[in-house]
Amino acid sequence: MKENRIIEKMIYDGDPGHDDVMAILLAAGNPGIELLGVTTVAGNAPLEMTTRNALITMDIIGADIPVAAGCSTPLVKPLYTAPFVHGESGLDGAKLFEPKRKPLDKHACDFIIDTLMESDGDISIVAAGPLTNVALALRREPEIASRIKQLVIMGGGRFGNITPAAEFNIWSDAEAARIVFESDIPKVMCGLDLTYQAVAVPEIMERIRAIGSRVSEFVCDFMTFYNNNSRRAGKNGAPVNDACCVAYLADKNVFTTRHLRVDIETKGEFSYGMTCIDFFRMNSGKPLLEPNVYVGDKLNFELFWNMMISAIASLG
Ligand code: BDR
Ligand code: CA
Repeated sequence: MKENRIIEKMIYDGDPGHDDVMAILLAAGNPGIELLGVTTVAGNAPLEMTTRNALITMDIIGADIPVAAGCSTPLVKPLYTAPFVHGESGLDGAKLFEPKRKPLDKHACDFIIDTLMESDGDISIVAAGPLTNVALALRREPEIASRIKQLVIMGGGRFGNITPAAEFNIWSDAEAARIVFESDIPKVMCGLDLTYQAVAVPEIMERIRAIGSRVSEFVCDFMTFYNNNSRRAGKNGAPVNDACCVAYLADKNVFTTRHLRVDIETKGEFSYGMTCIDFFRMNSGKPLLEPNVYVGDKLNFELFWNMMISAIASLG
C-alpha cells in the first residue's frame, strides 16, 4: 500500500524505449501513482521488443504489474521504427536478458477496455508511443471515452523530430492520433517543446549513479547509450520525453499548461503528422474550433528530476 493521499490510478501505454522505461519507473516508484498495467505498441522498436523491454523492467524492479501487448503495426501506414535513437533492441545500453515475467494472454486494447469499463471513471492513461492502441480501443468500445479520467499524451509540439513538422509518436500513426485528438477524452499534451526541457544532463546522471542500487545501475546503463546518441546531436544529454506525462499525473505543478485547439494533419506533403496548435485563435474567417487539449508549456526542472530520482531510489 502506498501512503495516505489521493492516488492517481493509471495505465501506461507506450513503446519502451529508453524514455518509456524512465516513465514506467517513475509510475512504479512514485507514491502518488498506482500503475495498473503497461500496454505496449510497436514504435521505437517492433512490438516483440517493446513488450520484452517492458517485461525486463518489471523483472528488474520485481513488480507484478500486468503487461499486455497490443498493435504491431499502425492503423494505416507501415511500421517505421527508430533504431537510430533507441538501438535495434529499443533499449540498447541495458544488459538485456530473457524476462521471467510473461505478457498477459490478452490484447492491450482488451486490457484497456476491460479495465476502464470495470472502473468508476477514476483511471487516467498515459500514452507515450504511437496512439494505435488507444485509437483502436476507442473504435472497439466508444464508451471508454467517458471513462478515462485524463489522457496524458507524449506527442507533437511546435517542431518535429522525425520531419521538420512532426514528432515521432504522432507521425508514426497520425490516423490514430487524429481519432484520439478528436475524441471527447480530457487530454493533456506533452509536446517536444515541453519535453526538451527534461534533459538528463550530466549532473542528473551523477545523482542517479550515486543511488548505487541495481535499478540505478540499470538506468545508468541504458541512459548512457541514449544520452550519447543525443550528444552527437549537439546536446548535453537526452530528453526523457515520456516521463513528463507521468510526472504530471503525480504532481500538476511539474509544468504549466495552456488550453488550446490542436488538430492532427493526416494529408500534408510536408506536414503529415503535425500537431496544428492554434496559439493565436486563427481560422481564416471560419468558425473557431473549441480548445480540446491542455498543452504543456514550462517545465519545473528541479521538481521533475527530484520526483524521478526519488522514484528510482525507492525501487531499490
Ligand atoms: C517520442 O518518440 C519516442 O522515440 C520516444 O519514446 C518518445 O515517446 C519522442 O518523440
Ligand atoms: Ca515512447
